[in-house]
Formats: sequence, C-alpha cells, structure tokens
Amino acid sequence: MRFSGKIAIVTGGASGIGEAFARRVHGEGGSVMIADLDAARGEVLAAELGERSAFRMVDVSDAEAMVALADETAARFGGLDILYNNAGIGNYGLTTDMPVEQWRRCLAVNLDAVFYGCRAAIPHMRSRGGGAIVNTASASGLAADYGFTAYNAAKAGVINYTRCLAIDHARDGIRANSVCPGPVDTPILTTGVDAFPGLRAEWEAIIPSKRFARADEIAAVAAFLASDDASGVTGAAIPVDGGLTAHTGQPDLRDRMAAAASA
Ligand SMILES: NC(=O)c1ccc[n+]([C@@H]2O[C@H](COP(=O)([O-])OP(=O)(O)OC[C@H]3O[C@@H](n4cnc5c(N)ncnc54)[C@H](O)[C@@H]3O)[C@@H](O)[C@H]2O)c1
Repeated sequence: MRFSGKIAIVTGGASGIGEAFARRVHGEGGSVMIADLDAARGEVLAAELGERSAFRMVDVSDAEAMVALADETAARFGGLDILYNNAGIGNYGLTTDMPVEQWRRCLAVNLDAVFYGCRAAIPHMRSRGGGAIVNTASASGLAADYGFTAYNAAKAGVINYTRCLAIDHARDGIRANSVCPGPVDTPILTTGVDAFPGLRAEWEAIIPSKRFARADEIAAVAAFLASDDASGVTGAAIPVDGGLTAHTGQPDLRDRMAAAASA
C-alpha cells in the first residue's frame, strides 16, 4: 500500500502505460485522476476503479486545461502528491518532408505538455511540502531512430527538462525522474508496426531481451519512481527497454567466434 493517502494525476491514463499506472497506484491505496483525450476509455476505467478515482477529459497540449486539471484534482481529493506526465503521440517524418504543423504538434503533446503539467502541479506539491513527478520519455530520447525526427527531439527534451526540474525543485521536496521505455505492446506502437508484415519480428530480433515490453512493466518502474521507495532518486532517466540502449548497434559476433573457436 505504498500510495495510501497519496493523490496522483496520470495523463494518457486511459490506455497502455498510463492505464497500468492508474491501476497500480489505485490498487496500492492511492487516489488517481485519470486524464486523457479518450473519454470513452477513461470513463470506463474510472467507473471500474470506483472510489478514489475520477476521469477528466484533457488535451495535455492546452496549458490552461492543465491548470484546471491540477486545481480540480487538488480540490476533489484534497491535494496533489504525484504527477505522471505520460500522454504522448508517435510521429514519423524526415526533416525535409515534415510540415511545420506536424513538428509543432509532436513537440506540443510530447514536450510542451510536460512543462504545462509541472507548471500547474508544482504549486500544489509545494503547499504539501513535496511531491514526485515522473515523465514518460523514451529510449528514443536517449539515442536517435531513423526518421523519428520530431519524436526524438521531443523525448530528449523531456529527459533534460526532467533534470532541470529535479535540481530546481529539490529544495521544495519535489523529486522528478523520467522513465525511458523501449518498444511496448500498446496501441501507439502496435497499430503502426502490425500494419507492416514482418516488422514486429525484425524489431524484436534487435532487442537483447527479444521482445516488446508489457505496459505494466513500464508502469512498475514509474510507480517505483513516484513512491517513497525512490526517496533518494531524482534527475534520473531510467531505461526500461530490454537492453535496447545498452547495445552499441555493432554486429553480434557470438556465433561466429564460437564457430571459429571450434574449427
Ligand atoms: N509504446 C511504446 O512503444 C512506447 C515507447 C516509448 C515511449 N512511449 C511513450 O509512452 C507514453 C504512453 O504511451 P502508451 O505506449 O501507453 O500508448 P497508448 O497509445 O496506449 O496511450 C497513449 C494515451 O495518450 C493519450 N493521448 C494522446 N494525445 C493526448 C493529448 N493531447 N491529451 C491527452 N491525452 C492524449 C491517448 O488518448 C492514449 O490514451 C507516450 O508518451 C509514448 O510516447 C511509448
């Protein structure tokens, strides 16, 4: 019951990683405000969780809506201890082909929204004497992917912005960390991947663990960072990627070396 008496907001809480986080925090005794654009799924989840949960339809790229979200959460549940900025959108496009509006939308949802959420939540956390911020960045914020121009830029921004939050607000008792998933079996990825025959197998083959993560595996790390178990952790960017970013990308020599040794 790590979250007993704690009050959390999770954006992108109607699906995937955010839904898994909402279930975990609620299951461990916390109150959770589920924020998402997807009202249908969000309402169903809040109804299923019942007491100590609520849903609010929010576009995270709307700065004023994020202020209203934080204020409503604090008024409804009696404060705000945890903000999980997790909503995000995928984006593919090379620099030379990308319309400015596409770049701006990707940055608005994946990066600007994290600032808007923190700006809205930190005053509430300060008045409680502290709090925890967790931001979903990505393995794609730690290194670059071919053709993921705006997404790579946004997620790298989330990682370094999180470090700024950590050092600026340590004196307020607020910790801030980012979680950096590799491929996760959720709609943001799989709707695109599964449209290309063979792509999933090719992708899984280059991950040392040889599989996509489950949403609850990412949520477990986010929950750790949000909890008092991580009281000494701030400014960290934690990969949860099955070893993807541990690898330089150079060829796998193991079978060749074994064959050469036995020849
Ligand atoms: N799935 C992956 O492979 C993967 C890998 C690395 C990082 N991530 C990141 O994880 C986070 C969560 O994604 P997921 O994998 O759970 O995908 P998902 O598609 O299951 O969930 C994303 C949720 O965000 C919501 N959302 C999108 N735009 C929004 C907006 N403007 N305002 C409010 N809500 C909005 C969607 O409605 C959806 O419920 C995202 O930030 C994503 O970039 C995902």
